[in-house]
Amino acid sequence: MNTEILRVDPTVPEPAIIAKAADYLRTGRLVAFPTETVYGLGANALDPEAVRSIFAAKGRPASNPVIVHVAEPSQVVNVAAQWPETAAQLAAKFWPGPLTIVVPKKHGVPDEVTAGGPTVAVRCPNHVVARELIRVAGVPIAAPSANRSTELSPTRAEHVFKSLNGRIDLILDGGPCAGGIESTVVDVTGPVVRLLRHGLITVPMLEEVVGLVDLPSRGYEPLGSVARSPGQMAKHYSPRTPVVLAQDADAEHQRLRDAGFRVISVGFDLIWDYRFISNDPAEYATDLYAILHELDEAGFDRIVIELPPDTPEWAAVRDRLTRAAAMS
Ligand code: TXA
Ligand code: MG
Repeated sequence: MNTEILRVDPTVPEPAIIAKAADYLRTGRLVAFPTETVYGLGANALDPEAVRSIFAAKGRPASNPVIVHVAEPSQVVNVAAQWPETAAQLAAKFWPGPLTIVVPKKHGVPDEVTAGGPTVAVRCPNHVVARELIRVAGVPIAAPSANRSTELSPTRAEHVFKSLNGRIDLILDGGPCAGGIESTVVDVTGPVVRLLRHGLITVPMLEEVVGLVDLPSRGYEPLGSVARSPGQMAKHYSPRTPVVLAQDADAEHQRLRDAGFRVISVGFDLIWDYRFISNDPAEYATDLYAILHELDEAGFDRIVIELPPDTPEWAAVRDRLTRAAAMS
């Protein structure tokens, strides 16, 4: 398959380009498109065969459900059987934006989307290209991150191309994603809102709207196999080059270098060879995957990353770093 790349204006998308991509989606093909978090790999969420082809292109296990994207909050009625009060409160505050809400699914949402489970994850992205594409396609769009399974998520069209060239029909290149890491995922089907994946909407931000949130670190009960997020699979979001996390990145760098490795570090203020990354959590998230993609191409043996502080505003970044460093 030939993978076509079309540039699209990220703020005023060209109608002809959106129309072409929307037509691809309506006819069961795969289109990668920018969102405010990372690039998504879209297919018509109501077409089981199209959704299966997402899994084939990514090499993703069928047990891992995908997020359904809508152009307007009002469109959740097409996929959700219920919209609890907490969902309404969270959507009112954070949509369009990087929050995914898991609710009971409506009859007719294919099992391919939900991994056979009773719930569906929904998100209204805050990116004009994504929303125009979904609006013109006229169907809800299933979209995981546009990368091969377990690899780093893409924050630029080139990352998508590197990972999925020849496996998808079209990439809409709308430039770099501002957010940089995947959306926060919450399950609102229980008595309290439960965090399934950390993201740009932090726990304190959620708790301001819905009160105390159920967190893995607060010891919540394990979920059934379907409701698990791949956020719960250890190895995910990984570059090929082994990543080592360290409180003292310079000491770790020196140790590895002395052991004969070609080493690069990523941190705020280091001594040995390093790539600077911002000490602001949001800016850090924006740049993290792009830096890892780049360093992964550069032929190092090890990437040492200085661990940011263990505070709520760093939780999503620390989560992704831990997964990038996981060996299995
Ligand atoms: O920012 C994002 O969320 C990006 C952009 C493209 O929207 N998408 C994304 O998709 O990161 P993906 O497939 O890489 O991650 C989707 C997450 C996974 O952790 C998955 O297990 C979880 O959402 N998920 C999807 N449906 C679910 C459901 N019904 N119940 C629980 N978790 C679900
Ligand atoms: Mg992903």
